[in-house]
Amino acid sequence: SEVDIDASAYDAGEHESFMRKEILEQPTTSLAVLRGRLDDRFGTAHLGGLDMDARDLRAVRRVKILGCGSAYYVGQMGAALIEELARIPADAEAASEFRYRDPVIEPDTLYVAVSQSGETIDTLLAVQEVRRKGGRCVGLVNVVGSAIARECDGGIYLHAGPEVAVASTKALTNMFLGFALLALQLGRTRDLSIADGKRLVAGLEKLPAQIEEVLAGEADLVEVARQLAEARSLFFIGRVRGFPVAREGAQKFKEISYRHAEAYQTSELKHGPLALIDPEVPTVALVPRDELTERNIGALHEIDARQGPLVVITHADVDLGEVRARRIDVPRNEPELDPILLTIPLQLLAYHAAQHLGHDIDKPRNLAKSVTVE
Ligand code: G6P
Repeated sequence: SEVDIDASAYDAGEHESFMRKEILEQPTTSLAVLRGRLDDRFGTAHLGGLDMDARDLRAVRRVKILGCGSAYYVGQMGAALIEELARIPADAEAASEFRYRDPVIEPDTLYVAVSQSGETIDTLLAVQEVRRKGGRCVGLVNVVGSAIARECDGGIYLHAGPEVAVASTKALTNMFLGFALLALQLGRTRDLSIADGKRLVAGLEKLPAQIEEVLAGEADLVEVARQLAEARSLFFIGRVRGFPVAREGAQKFKEISYRHAEAYQTSELKHGPLALIDPEVPTVALVPRDELTERNIGALHEIDARQGPLVVITHADVDLGEVRARRIDVPRNEPELDPILLTIPLQLLAYHAAQHLGHDIDKPRNLAKSVTVE
């Protein structure tokens, strides 16, 4: 039911695992998805592979993103980007559920299939459902010429290079950047101003170096990751832009450490899971500098008051006040692009937790790199 990548065809080099190698490659691989696609002069992106002209782009009234696992979570990040930059209603749905509810396919909706391998059967069947009912589906795919890429009307190749570890890292980063390019181009055919377009182009251009900066802090995260690995259960929390980041962080952590990790909206904590917070249950909180910072810090106080251990991924200019927490600062970029810089430390935390526990990081139990049978 599963196809395993033949890892022997690739070489992890001096790295102890493909996952770590792939995490460290991100400053370079992220450049590859942006290369030749950014336009400084008009503050936009050019995505020739989409095969959609300005009129087609302007006709889009809604965007529906379909993917599985990490591709689904990054799809949620992408939906937020599209809604913010292009002001088009957008959402992501698990491709594995989509066709079972006999979905209504609308001619003015742009469907976007996201997949590293391009072979995930649930995503492929979702694309076929869209196309059978006359919808337009484009792909955000890493593997050139894969089944999903061939089935789509057009798309954006991710150029992350071969990804061998089951837990997706560099491909996921490029998926996010692919969505940023799409959101920018959709936005600039509508009401996104040239000033905002240029601001985002500049932000995207500096991202690879900022990813490198986060990776340079790896050594500081090892001890935190080991402490998290000792917990039987943990929470990952975030709001709005931060929530899909929390979902992806929890997913990565549980995939390779086999610890129960649950993502929650910070705002929903008080409506239930706060009952579980105690000194044995750590929380990893995403608190970027944005319009929700103060409210997020309020929630941290609630956790701290119950002696819940806290790890906070944040920006250097955020003042956590009296909250007792281990903080991890990431560089600031444009707020819309925060999710990807917040994601990088979560990759490292998951990796070092699993490493500490002595797990087979590249091939976690019960999972396959691509699931090609329903
Ligand atoms: C499998 C992998 C996940 C991955 C998902 C989607 O379940 O274990 O890590 O996110 O498939 O894979 P795709 O190749 O479609 O991105």
